[in-house]
Amino acid sequence: MSKPKVYITRKLEEKYVKAYQEQLEIRMWEKEEEPVPRETLLKEAADANALFAVLSDSIDEELLSKAPQLKVVANMAVGYDNIDLEACEKHDVIAANTPDVLSETTADLGFSLLMAAARRIVEADAWVKEDKWQAWAPFFFAGSDIHAKTIGIVGMGRIGEAIAKRAAGFDMNIQYHNRSRKKDAEERLQATYVSFEELLETSDFVVTVVPHTKETDKMFNRAAFEKMKSSAIFINISRGKVVVEDALVHALKTGEIQAAGLDVFEEEPIRADHPLVGLNNTVCLPHIGSASVETRKRMVELCMDNILAVVSGEEAITPIS
Ligand code: DGY
Repeated sequence: MSKPKVYITRKLEEKYVKAYQEQLEIRMWEKEEEPVPRETLLKEAADANALFAVLSDSIDEELLSKAPQLKVVANMAVGYDNIDLEACEKHDVIAANTPDVLSETTADLGFSLLMAAARRIVEADAWVKEDKWQAWAPFFFAGSDIHAKTIGIVGMGRIGEAIAKRAAGFDMNIQYHNRSRKKDAEERLQATYVSFEELLETSDFVVTVVPHTKETDKMFNRAAFEKMKSSAIFINISRGKVVVEDALVHALKTGEIQAAGLDVFEEEPIRADHPLVGLNNTVCLPHIGSASVETRKRMVELCMDNILAVVSGEEAITPIS
């Protein structure tokens, strides 16, 4: 009997897929840092039983209607705004993602961004490396304290909770906003539920961890930034499309807020001539929230295990419900 066919849309080292080769026929795109061209993806999907996708691959009606053998799409991310779930249902394709395994790592990155933006780490590093350091000075690179400040977490899911745990270690006052109240998290993490408006108005750090949906699209707009403290630091580790970037640029330029730490952007990759990148009160990263070797390995394994389960007639391990 022939093995189920899997197409992986980015190049992965052999060692990550070796264990699956006995049961699966694995093909993959030849480049790691370059997305598979749409035409190639459509061609490969045409006879695939499973797709291992990443967030830049659009899994939509066109692709699904041209992939009659497809049973499962495993997305190497917890976010899945690149997948049309209705179309998956229509074509009887199971969609799976990689929750849990990346929560702590993504929270580490979120907190690193928060600290880097608050203490001006990137600017200060450049100062030394560009040989500009002349003398110690009383307010030289003075940033903002982190300890004992108020953090406002927007989206109290698994990553939001992991951020709150870190904030507790810094003696921060923790408040959050979420679609629904999380009473268990409130008790465990000493977090206070507040309205979105109150969170914006009273937080020293506003950290967004919400998925990108119709409801969260552009939720950080001009009105939202206007409500924030002029000393507020905005951190985005969710999706760029939850922010109106022109409004953020305006807020950062006019002093409506103090700084921003951004791992995600409306258009990725963002270019160096984008106004957000040109500001010295932003720290900009290339969407590396879950990028530790350990976690990326776990994400690959979870994708492959989801694929193996579905093509073997079992339930997916982490289906997107
Ligand atoms: C996710 O998992 O959704 C991240 O954004 C990818 O690292």
